[in-house]
Amino acid sequence: MNVLAISGSLRRNSLNSAALRACRDLAPDGMAIEIWEGLREIPPYDDDDFKANGFPAVVAGLREKIRAADAVIIATPEYNHSIPGVLKNAIDWVSRPPDVPFVRKSYAIFGASMGGMGTIRAQYHLRDMLLYFDAVVLNKPEVFIGAAHTKFGAGGELTDQPTRDILIQMLTALQAQTRALTS
Ligand SMILES: Cc1cc2nc3c(=O)[nH]c(=O)nc-3n(C[C@H](O)[C@H](O)[C@H](O)COP(=O)(O)O)c2cc1C
Repeated sequence: MNVLAISGSLRRNSLNSAALRACRDLAPDGMAIEIWEGLREIPPYDDDDFKANGFPAVVAGLREKIRAADAVIIATPEYNHSIPGVLKNAIDWVSRPPDVPFVRKSYAIFGASMGGMGTIRAQYHLRDMLLYFDAVVLNKPEVFIGAAHTKFGAGGELTDQPTRDILIQMLTALQAQTRALTS
């Protein structure tokens, strides 16, 4: 099972990107996670530009990777009670027709923030956006990594055992959901 993982943060020491690296290490047997790194390259969405020139190469590449993946994991920071603009911008680009690759795909979403709420509000916005594509988003376990800066070591390694455990639960549930969807 091939899973594409997208972090909504551009920050070098991003806690969300670090959590995705942890997911890659914690993935159950039979699941391979590729972390996509192109978010910074995506230009601001401009409908005139899209109509004149189509998808930029970086967006076309992302659309292909989503299409080829069995499932997608999105780790989102919370910026002002929602998802970061760069992540929304990427979703806007990928969502343009034809053949929207988000449709009926299997997803897990989660997030990490330094505050206590662990991206609850951002994740519900993201879940709402994905519903538009008839996406199949894992309902449980919900993974809200609050006080995330206390849960990773200096090198970005995930040191908090309860967080490791719930990520394993999430990945196992994603594997089952994806098998059910694709069988
Ligand atoms: C513009 C901006 C807005 C933020 N708004 C929120 C917020 O609404 N809720 C929250 O819990 N944290 C908020 N934060 C703090 C982020 O959760 C924190 O910077 C987190 O580490 C970002 O994720 P990252 O480490 O993956 O980059 C905000 C940070 C920035 C830069």
